[in-house]
Amino acid sequence: MQIDREAPVGVFDSGVGGLTVAREIMRNLPAEKIVYFGDTARVPYGNKSKETIIRYSRQIVHFLKEQRVKAIVVACNTASAFALDTIEKELDIPIVGVIEAGARVAAQETRNKRIGVIGTEGTIGSGIHREYLKQQDPEITVFGKACPLLVSLVEEGWLKDPVTDEVLRRYLAELQEQQIDTLILGCTHYPLLRSAIRRILGDEVRLVNPAYETALELRKVLEENGLLDLGSENEEFPYRFYVSDLAEKFQHFANSILPYDVKMTKKIDIEKY
Ligand code: DGL
Repeated sequence: MQIDREAPVGVFDSGVGGLTVAREIMRNLPAEKIVYFGDTARVPYGNKSKETIIRYSRQIVHFLKEQRVKAIVVACNTASAFALDTIEKELDIPIVGVIEAGARVAAQETRNKRIGVIGTEGTIGSGIHREYLKQQDPEITVFGKACPLLVSLVEEGWLKDPVTDEVLRRYLAELQEQQIDTLILGCTHYPLLRSAIRRILGDEVRLVNPAYETALELRKVLEENGLLDLGSENEEFPYRFYVSDLAEKFQHFANSILPYDVKMTKKIDIEKY
């Protein structure tokens, strides 16, 4: 199949969280165009079964392929944990998830080989970080902690709030007791809580932001496949946003975190795919 290096990259998530990944792609690969899909009608993914997440991800990939994307980024940790393996086998374009690159960097960063991972119930229950980290270094011990309340707190905009700090303190206490020296922010929303987490854990614990690492991984994959955009014509709308429900709420959140003014978000019927 002939793929065009000027085609957009497809990025998807269960909702708004994957915008933290889109943001890193915009910052680090400014020539790339993006088609973003947020599954706002079916969010959250974090408490759903593997079968359901595979079905949802297949539908979204089908939609993104229809948009003629040249590569796909699964910007959702839960979808990366549950569906990436399956979808990769079915696709004829490169696909990148958010888990592997973060795990690789965490394995390089840790000194005491004690790594914490926070994420949704699905991501932590899947044990996928442990798998990747053990592949990197079998001596690493991994401590996972599901933090389901954090997604709502971020979407509420409570990034600097005593309630969020208290919730974080309770979730992170177990990991502090285990003396981790590296923490993977294994959910799309958590990079937005970076400062709060840093305040609680102090400077001693390295925080790994998979959104950033994924943007770097995407660059590598595009380069390897001869698909890196070398600076095509400036387009009026280099970033296109699609959702499955309530475009206004999505747009409001997008404009609060992106270095780009999102003027239009289109709602599509994802169940048709
Ligand atoms: N995007 C999801 C993730 O990174 C978090 C939100 C959800 O549960 O859908 O796992």
